[in-house]
Amino acid sequence: MNLFNLYDYSKDDILKLLDLALQFKHNKLRVNFNQEKVICTLFFEPSTRTHYSFEMAAARLGAQCISFNAVGSSLDKNESFYDTVKFFEAIVPDAIVIRHSIDNYYQQFTNLKVPLINGGDGQCNHPTQSLLDLMTIYENFKTISNLKILIVGDIKHSRVAHTNIEIFKRLGNEVFLAGPKPFHEEGLFFVDFDEYIDQVDVVMLLRMQFERHHEDIGLNYDTYLDDYGLNQKRYDLMKPQAIIMHPAPFNRGLEIDGNLVESEKSKIFEQMTNGLFVRMAVLYNAIK
Ligand code: CP
Repeated sequence: MNLFNLYDYSKDDILKLLDLALQFKHNKLRVNFNQEKVICTLFFEPSTRTHYSFEMAAARLGAQCISFNAVGSSLDKNESFYDTVKFFEAIVPDAIVIRHSIDNYYQQFTNLKVPLINGGDGQCNHPTQSLLDLMTIYENFKTISNLKILIVGDIKHSRVAHTNIEIFKRLGNEVFLAGPKPFHEEGLFFVDFDEYIDQVDVVMLLRMQFERHHEDIGLNYDTYLDDYGLNQKRYDLMKPQAIIMHPAPFNRGLEIDGNLVESEKSKIFEQMTNGLFVRMAVLYNAIK
């Protein structure tokens, strides 16, 4: 089964994947493919969490993993992205995981003969991040619906935000967006962070994505934390049961006060742990 984007999945499909991930997490399901399955991971963009949690997920399932390294590959001889992926299809793995900077790159590969799992495309989709975010929300609130979720920061350049805004809304949550003007997008309504901080269940921060800022966007990074980030003052206003999330990597002292990364309300490292179990569930679904 492919995982191109989460929009193709119903609420029931999502709940089944989360249930599978929770079973893996709580040792209620054990799978061992005895090294007979092979996953290929092709990361054409930097990644730590997604790349290595897919590799760990494969290892935990008893599957082998071959990791494509763009450096020293035939990309240096002008082989295209498309032809590189077709090579990996030709050597018949059981599934391929791809991250690439092209928006919706997977549309080139709808007829691939092996399952394709999207590890992130351009500024559009990050389906496994959204699943691990939902798993973390579920663990904390015992529901993935009827919550108030505030997404804050560099929304314009974030595939995590774009996926989550759509999916959280489809699941029946109220989603609020906040951040400075350069990160606003047509069609999206933004609120004042300070007006909503004490009302929401989830404060989801986003990384400032400098690599996608192709010009000076006119923000003062020295005052950004106090102007738009999660500082101690805003943290103190959060509801008692509210949680902080961030897909990471994070810029300590920019979108979040460095001391709050490991604060009581922060679920950031739980998100990373859940990333392993979500990716086990997604891989298992693809190769079983
Ligand atoms: N959250 C996330 O996708 O992190 P990586 O870029 O390190 O994979």
